[in-house]
Amino acid sequence: MNRYAHVVGWGMAVPEKVLTNDDLARMVDTTDEWIVSRTGIRERRIAGPKETTASLAIEAATRALEVADISPDEIDMIIVATSSPEHIFPSTASLVQDALGASRAGAFDLSAACSGFIYALGMATNSIKCGSMNTALVIGSETLSRLLNWSDRGTCILFGDGAGAFVLRGSDVTGGVMSLVMRSDGSGGDLLTVPAGGSKMPASYETVRDNLHTIQMDGRAVYRFATRVMIQSTREAVACAGLQLSDIDAIVPHQANRRIIEAAARGLELPEDKFVINVERYGNTSTASIPIALCEAVEKGRVKPNDHLVFVGFGAGLTWGASVVHWDVTPPPPLDTWGRLRRRTLTGVAKVRSGLRRVGRQLEGVVYGKNAPEGEEPPHVKKK
Ligand code: COA
Repeated sequence: MNRYAHVVGWGMAVPEKVLTNDDLARMVDTTDEWIVSRTGIRERRIAGPKETTASLAIEAATRALEVADISPDEIDMIIVATSSPEHIFPSTASLVQDALGASRAGAFDLSAACSGFIYALGMATNSIKCGSMNTALVIGSETLSRLLNWSDRGTCILFGDGAGAFVLRGSDVTGGVMSLVMRSDGSGGDLLTVPAGGSKMPASYETVRDNLHTIQMDGRAVYRFATRVMIQSTREAVACAGLQLSDIDAIVPHQANRRIIEAAARGLELPEDKFVINVERYGNTSTASIPIALCEAVEKGRVKPNDHLVFVGFGAGLTWGASVVHWDVTPPPPLDTWGRLRRRTLTGVAKVRSGLRRVGRQLEGVVYGKNAPEGEEPPHVKKK
């Protein structure tokens, strides 16, 4: 029997703080008129001191689980697509796993820049289809504001913070994610990069002085690449799904720049109103932009049950990808008081469980670590 991966839950989270173009014009030599005419962006959200990539991911994931009406312990795998992880390791996904109390879930981060959400959707879908898991939480979450050079007007105007999440579930019913295209061209790696902070150029006085931990971009080259691959990969994903462009009800593109989306619409000979666009309010939230746009489109009734959707994105790497999804779910009714109480209890239990595990690990260290004779294995390791 064939297995299919269906989207059964979705959620988003954005910081409260809004940074408008006029605010930016007080920080760098730019104007609202320049930013709107070149990008379509009017404002973006910026994480507050207590908000992080993980905290936004947890908020979006909690909402997605509510829509899907499933418990965290039903999740088999958590994938966080991000370019602004909390640390090099542990993964942001592991922090999300702990906070949600997803006690049975594996967890990993996925790095494919702004195409990351499509890639994560692809990894989860293929694992569900081959039967190695049944329920996956796929998250795109970013605090790119922390990787920006706030004196570089060519980049700091473009990006914003936020998170979006999908719950995917296996089913024998045909539908859900129908096709996937995932591509890369590393020869363009230098066009969009954060050069320092990895193993090639570890943090040093010089890297910090020269702003090498921030986003560096050749905007024009990225623009040309983006318009080309948006058109190509949309056509390819639609053909792989066995559909025509005329069968597509809505395209949810990566929200980098309104002009890129308009160019893609012209290239595909589709009316602009086929495209879900919210870049004016959030800027480019990288891996989060597609799920955030989708959540808003569902909320507004722009995406309806049984629609055929295209998700399409591009980003550093260079990477790009597209997917056709049959949006064949009707969201369950909102949780009643009992449901909300149950969910809150589970989150509370997750916190307690996480705390107890930490204490347990410390005790283990005291009992078996310091006092154990040198060379002695812990008790769960069988003696030779
Ligand atoms: N405000 C005012 N002027 C600005 C500016 C700003 N924020 N940023 C750049 N400029 C200036 C430049 O300095 C340049 O001036 P000059 O001609 O005197 O040198 C001029 O505007 C044109 O710059 P250019 O970079 O050629 O502008 P552009 O029309 O290509 O627009 C981008 C710049 C970044 C908006 C556009 O290239 C773009 O959107 N590229 C894709 C980026 C992207 O999507 N990245 C993320 C991928 S996931």
